[in-house]
This record gives sequence, structure tokens and C-alpha cells, in this order.
Amino acid sequence: MGELSAIEVRTRLLAWYDANRRDLPWRRTADPYRILVAEYLLQRTRIVSGTPYYERFLARFPSIEELAAASLDDVLAVWEGLGFYGRARNLRAAAQAIVERHGGRVPESFAELAALPGMGPYTAGAVASIAFGVPVPAVDGNVTRVIARLFRIPDDVTRAAAQRRILEIAARLVSPERPGAFNQSMMELGATVCTPSSPSCTRCPLERLCLAHLAGEEDWFPVSRRPRASPLVPVVFGLVAADGRVLLVRRPSGQLLGGLWSLPGGDRARKDERAALADAVRRQAGIEVDIGARWSRVSQTFSHRKWSGSIYRCTPRRMPEPSDSVRWVPREEALRLPLVPFHREAIEALAGLESFERAN
Ligand code: ADE
Ligand code: SF4
Repeated sequence: MGELSAIEVRTRLLAWYDANRRDLPWRRTADPYRILVAEYLLQRTRIVSGTPYYERFLARFPSIEELAAASLDDVLAVWEGLGFYGRARNLRAAAQAIVERHGGRVPESFAELAALPGMGPYTAGAVASIAFGVPVPAVDGNVTRVIARLFRIPDDVTRAAAQRRILEIAARLVSPERPGAFNQSMMELGATVCTPSSPSCTRCPLERLCLAHLAGEEDWFPVSRRPRASPLVPVVFGLVAADGRVLLVRRPSGQLLGGLWSLPGGDRARKDERAALADAVRRQAGIEVDIGARWSRVSQTFSHRKWSGSIYRCTPRRMPEPSDSVRWVPREEALRLPLVPFHREAIEALAGLESFERAN
């Protein structure tokens, strides 16, 4: 599994889950039937939309026997409005199979569960691990995204080869002691922190382990051939500052944010962020800079594209020559100019950091 320790991922995720898990109705029960119903219902549905149906469904069909004996129309009547009615048909057929083949008890093994109507590997893994403590993975879209980022999986996750690889990783990660909690911690992280766009890495328990995050590339994973609504454009900017001054360049008119003052940088053609930034500062301001630590991430969605990249803290080797499109200005003056909005935030943060350092 590369450099990442399964034990560390597991320990961190479980501790985070214990402290942050949402109180959801199917997490208050150990009844396998109630867990089974939840996993069918949540197959293609968000938790907020699914929860009222879950409560209604169980009020109407409180046991497997009652569900197995119900007419299809009665089952569909409770499901109406939730969509994907095949799930309701399958759930009823699964209840009938459980009554006929398993004496009315939900089977415990992954293989027996996977043989029930409408049970894909995800649902079988979820029920086996959550209801029965079987150490098997449960990989849905959320879990796929978390693993693709955590391990920086370069393959297209819509393809079978990548899906196999992700399933293998999930199988090695799953906690032997608390598989149900572990699988739900991955789903929970994907739903609440490691979200599809702009994941909240600063509140993620895996922040220091995650290979995509460490590379500043979380927006680039999972890799998928499906076109995005806003294509990702890689960018890099430099917060070039010294002696209370900051370097600004004017964005050319006709470009995105044209005419606004900006930190030097922008779209980057080169793969290496730092080399691309050095090139851009040289081109835009005519100076060499020493590039320091990454100052912040850039993840900005516009109407037709999304900027993804980093801002680096830089020190100039000599002072820039001011011109129509280059300014080397005291910070307070910079903040009075029309600025790229997130560059304003970066300059304000620098001012905040420096006054903190002076005071301490
Ligand atoms: N999605 C599917 N199953 C879930 C579960 N048990 N908890 C949270 N989200 C889910
Ligand atoms: Fe997802 Fe960020 Fe956490 Fe990585 S650090 S798992 S990208 S939220």
C-alpha cells in the first residue's frame, strides 16, 4: 500500500468517526433488517431525502415477514417519490428470499448476502460489516473518492481496473475489529469532509497522510473521463513580499478578471508549480524570486472554469521596477486597489501573521 500505513489511517478515521458521526436512524439499531432496509434505500439517495422514507417504510413494514408478505403495490406506495423503484422491488424480493431460504433471518456472510436480489458488492459489504461485524469493505462513490485522493490513484475510476485496485485497498484498510464503523467512517468522511469539489482538508483526520493533499492536488482526484461542468485549470501565484511591501501585476484585459491587480502568476503550463511560478514572475515583473513554502491552496470556481493550485510565499532577490502593470506597494495601499478577491485574502492573512509575529 505504498508509504501509507493502514493502521494509522484506520486509527485516525475511527477516532474521528467516534467524535463526529452523525446521529442517523439506522445507526441507532443493531437489527440486521433495519440496516438492510437502510442500505437498499440509500443506494442512490442522499441521506436528507432518504431518512423520512426510511422511518415511514419501517413503520409500515416493521419486520422481514411483513415485508415479504406485502403486495408490490403496497411497497411501492411507501416508496413513491423516492425514485429508482427497482430498489423497492428488489428489497421486497430480498425479504421473500430471506424468509424462504434463510428462515427469516438476514444471512451473515458476504456471499449469501450478495446472492440476494438487488445486492451489489457495496450493499452486501455494508450489511455484512455493519450488521454482523464481518471485515469486508463497502465501496461506494464517496469511498472511491476518498481512496483515490488518499492514495493519489492516477487511473480513471470509471474503469474496472481502477475499481479493482480501490476495492483491494479498501479491503486492506478495513478494521478487523470494527469493520462497520470503519466503512461508515469512510462514507461519512466522503459525505461531509472529502466532498467532490473543494474538500475541507484542514478539518480532515487524514490531512497529514493524504497523498493528493500533500501534493496540493486534491481537486485532481478522482480521475474520471466524465467531463466536468467547469474544466480544471492549473494555476500558481506568488505572494512576493518584503519590508511591508507586496508585488502586484495587472491582469491583462480580455482575460478572466482582466484589469484587476493580482499576485504574479496565473495559468501554469509546466507541471512543476515552483518552476512555473519562477517563470511567471520573471516574465511579468522582470525579477528573480526565492520561492518559500506553500502559503495557501487555490480552489476557485468561476462560471466556465475552476482554478486549482497554490499560492507560494516568495522573497524577491532585488526590488522590482514599477510600471503600468507592475507595482511594488505597501500592503495597506495594495488593499485599496481593485484586487483579485482571494489575493486580497492572502495579503490580509500575511498582514495578520506579521502582526502576530511582532506581538509574540
Ligand atoms: N450511505 C449508505 N449507507 C450509509 C451509512 N450506513 N451511513 C452513511 N451513509 C450511508
Ligand atoms: Fe480528502 Fe483532503 Fe482528507 Fe485528502 S486531506 S482525504 S483530499 S479531505
